[in-house]
Formats: sequence, C-alpha cells, structure tokens
Amino acid sequence: MDGRLLIFSGSANPELAKEIATCLRMSVGRALVGQFKNGETRIKIHDNVRGCDVFVIQPTCNPVDHHLMELLLMIDALRRASANRVTAVIPYYGYAKQEKKTAGREPISAKLVANLIRTAGADRVLTMDLHTPAIEGFFDIPVDHLQAGPLLADYIHSMNLSNPVVVSPDAGGVGRANRFRERMGANLAIIAKQRPEPDTSEVLEMVGEVEGKTAIIIDDMISTGGTLVEAAEALIERGANKVYACATHGIFSADALSIIGRSDLIETLITNTIPQSSEASSARVRTISVAPLFAEAIMRIHKDLSLSALFS
Ligand code: R5P
Repeated sequence: MDGRLLIFSGSANPELAKEIATCLRMSVGRALVGQFKNGETRIKIHDNVRGCDVFVIQPTCNPVDHHLMELLLMIDALRRASANRVTAVIPYYGYAKQEKKTAGREPISAKLVANLIRTAGADRVLTMDLHTPAIEGFFDIPVDHLQAGPLLADYIHSMNLSNPVVVSPDAGGVGRANRFRERMGANLAIIAKQRPEPDTSEVLEMVGEVEGKTAIIIDDMISTGGTLVEAAEALIERGANKVYACATHGIFSADALSIIGRSDLIETLITNTIPQSSEASSARVRTISVAPLFAEAIMRIHKDLSLSALFS
C-alpha cells in the first residue's frame, strides 16, 4: 500500500490505541475528539493525512451511539482530508446482537451500522470476535476478523489447571468452545440456555461430564453477567471443582461486576477490546492485551500481506 501508515483514536479506548501504536513504534495521530456546547460531536484531525494509509481505532462500546458517531465523523474527516485509504479498526462491534429480527417491526441494527460505516467512507474494517460471523457479510468492503480465542486459550493452558473441561454456555458458542478445547487438549461440555426476556438467561440442560473437573466457560462477550453466573452455578451443582471463565469483550453492563464478584467464578479472563474500570479487578477479572495482535494485523494490512498466519 502506498502512503505512510497513520493511527488515530476516538475516545472509546485511547489506551488500546496507544498500546497498538507503541507496538508499531509510532505515536497516535493528533486529533481533537470532543463535543460542541450543543452536544454535537466535534472532530478535527490536526495531522496532515493526504495520501496516507490511515487506521482509526474505535470500539463501539458504551456509550455506543456516541462512540459510533465519533467513528463515523473521524472517517468522514479523514476522507475529506484526502487520506489514501481509511480502515475502521473496531475491536468490539456494538449492535452486533441485533443482527436479525427476532420479532416483527424490529430493525436489523448491525446491518444499518455496517451501512453507516461504509457510507462515511471506510475502505476496510478490522475487527475481533463479532457476535456472529455473518455480520462480515453486511459489509461490501473487506473485513478482517481477528480471534482472541488462541490468546485466551494459551493463557489458560499456561495455568496448568487440573482436569480441565471447556464449557460453551449456549448452543451458539459450541464452535468457539470446540476450537478452544482443541487448542488446550481438553474435553467439551455444552449448556443449553434460554432467554425468557432480553438480558435474562436460564440454564435448561447440560451435555458432557464436569464432575470433579475444572470448568472453563468460554463466551464472546459478558454483558449483564447472567449467562456466566448461571452457567457457573449449574457447573458447581453438577460437581465441577472450580469454575473459570473467558470472554473476548468485557461489556459489564449494569451491576455485572458485582454479580460476578459474588459468584463462584475463581477468575474471569477478558481482553482489553473495551476499557475496564478498577472495579473489574475486585471482581477477579483479569485482562490480557490484544494490542500486539492488532498491531501485527495493521502492519500486515498496510504491507498487503496475508493475515492467515495470525489465526494459527
Ligand atoms: C449470547 O449469545 C452471547 O454469546 C453471550 O452469552 C451473551 O451476550 C452474554 O450476555 P449476558 O452477560 O448479558 O448474559
């Protein structure tokens, strides 16, 4: 790719952007990302970007709409300032759970967000662990979709937990849990859950042997914490000795951290796609960094190299 590599950040996760830039031995580009007095988002790119290969790092985490708007306006500003190529780096893609209609007269929000990002002028998207891979197809531009699973699995593997069993907390996560299990050389258990209403979950049934084992629940995101805590209770009831959890995106909405803090979970491992408050460590939540992986992906995209090596 012609043009200098530049990195900019919105206000959603500047620490991650800085870490990625450090891995690439560069600094985050200078930009004003703020608000006008009337509440509208204000963007001003200070550095010259003409002809450059620009990556904008912005997970669309809470406040989702605000962070999304910052991303859209930054892309627009870069486009109008004659950047050669703009890649939206979205480590956590908000609205991903609204990827289909579950009832009549509902929007498909994840598709609308994809349209907005494209319309703003993004040439590519780099993201991680989309709630469902089908969201890639909502974009008519290239999407590189990284996975945190190998990082999380290697970390858990290094803990040498005795007699581990990897647990999918719902039917939709079986593929993810199976890849994790293969990497660790452990067995698999599957929980069937139901959601009587949005943001509540109930364990229906479990398949697989967990008695006397160390269970590791693997999920893509933790929002209310309900899925995780219900799963941990069900595992302890069925005789698991200890329960750990892993997820890529620590959203921790409402009182999720206090629920997790009071639960049977020994430790919950997440990544830094979303910034965390200090409350997370008191809930025994440990964070590992995805910055080196994103930095490598950005360098490979910039140099037009394959990203396949990052998935092994
Ligand atoms: C569901 O399909 C997802 O994979 C997660 O299990 C879910 O989003 C977690 O949400 P919560 O923490 O609110 O139960």
